[in-house]
Amino acid sequence: MKIAIVYHSVTGTTAQLAEAVAAGCRSIATAQPQLLRIEGVDIQQGRFKNSSVLEIIDHSEAVIFGSPTFMGSVSAQFKAFADATAGDHWVEQLWADKIAAGFTVGNGYCGDTLHCLHYLQILAAQHGMLWAGLDLAGAGDAKAPNRLGAQAGLIARAVDGAIEAPDLETAFYLGQRVARMVGLFRRSGH
Ligand SMILES: Cc1cc2nc3c(=O)[nH]c(=O)nc-3n(C[C@H](O)[C@H](O)[C@H](O)COP(=O)(O)O)c2cc1C
Repeated sequence: MKIAIVYHSVTGTTAQLAEAVAAGCRSIATAQPQLLRIEGVDIQQGRFKNSSVLEIIDHSEAVIFGSPTFMGSVSAQFKAFADATAGDHWVEQLWADKIAAGFTVGNGYCGDTLHCLHYLQILAAQHGMLWAGLDLAGAGDAKAPNRLGAQAGLIARAVDGAIEAPDLETAFYLGQRVARMVGLFRRSGH
């Protein structure tokens, strides 16, 4: 089962999360995660132009979106990618019924990161995708997975350019959960 992890990262913390999400996917035997990093060269005159990223997503059963929180939302580069899906992909609902999930990271204790995650959720909804959040109760234990208590997806907090262990564990869990969901969906005959 192919799972696309499409993300943007400047200083590497979202990339660390993406790697952990991919490792979580790989913990389910049949899952084949593919990391798709949005690069500056993909964007020409403000428009995302890398059609191979869209084609890989076309052929994936699930998509996990990741962006750093920049000024309370996704990065401009991630938004350029999202805007590139507004043509046939949106009109024809080419990604409908794919399972989707998302993750973000900020420096703030809150940092308005939930708004970024909600944008990823809306993007998935616009494409008719089925959103998988986290079934991890965030009970406020700073050392436990989902320590920040987001269930719409993963919110991580970067400290000195690094992701701390509980957030990496949550990222692993999110990838594993999405891979499990794809398996369940397949077995249901979809
Ligand atoms: C332009 C800019 C805007 C940012 N805005 C926010 C923000 O609104 N909330 C927050 O918590 N962190 C914010 N940050 C911090 C980044 O989200 C944080 O450094 C993150 O780890 C960067 O991800 P990356 O390492 O994948 O590039 C901002 C950083 C930059 C450069």
